[in-house]
Amino acid sequence: MQLFKAKIGYCKEIAPSYFKMAILADIEANPGQFFHIKCANDNTFRLRRPFSLHRKLEDGFEILFEKKGFGTEFLSNLKRGDILDIIGPCGNGFKIMKKQSIIIGGGIGIAPLFELALRCRNPKILIGAKTKDSLLCVDDFRKCKIEPLVSTDDGSLGYHGFITDLFLDSIDSIDFILYACGPSKMLDSVIKIAKEKNIPCQISVESIIACGVGACLGCAYKTKNGYKKVCKDGPVFDVSEL
Ligand code: FES
Repeated sequence: MQLFKAKIGYCKEIAPSYFKMAILADIEANPGQFFHIKCANDNTFRLRRPFSLHRKLEDGFEILFEKKGFGTEFLSNLKRGDILDIIGPCGNGFKIMKKQSIIIGGGIGIAPLFELALRCRNPKILIGAKTKDSLLCVDDFRKCKIEPLVSTDDGSLGYHGFITDLFLDSIDSIDFILYACGPSKMLDSVIKIAKEKNIPCQISVESIIACGVGACLGCAYKTKNGYKKVCKDGPVFDVSEL
């Protein structure tokens, strides 16, 4: 982990209120790790926000975010050439296994899963969202020759229902590893299914991240082995720990 400054390559709105930003930096990160980015022009430390590695680029990396508060509003207005103040990569990412992988992303939870999918062998991707307007990355996966299965809560595109139901409908064995990120309700369902069916599973957990470096205990998350820090021990946890 290091503190560095980096230029923005682009910042574009890819769906209503969802933005993709390229950050030009020669830095290595693993899928599931995040960058803690200052989202203000002053020195207020609390205005850093966590953004996971979305995709590695030749000259940097992409983040994907939803504009939904002061910090992300600030970021969404930045332009090519603006400079960011970044700490990272932070936390522990996904452990990539050799077996077949199924990857489930709900809403903006697809953000840390794109680079993961590119590094897995022959992954199966399921993407869920409330409506078709908030389904993210479907075309990006297609460009990488991966055809995702999609679901929407309102039935406006793909399977009508929850992504976890589509997942259950689409499997005929349990010989795979499951990776997931999404809203907490979706993750609760994924954890329950993985435990009941004895499927190896890693999830990336969302939490309020303050310091981002393990110093404030603001991101405590209950596990079988006591409280862990999402920013330092996570954000990826093996379901066997939960
Ligand atoms: Fe401070 Fe995790 S955000 S310890």
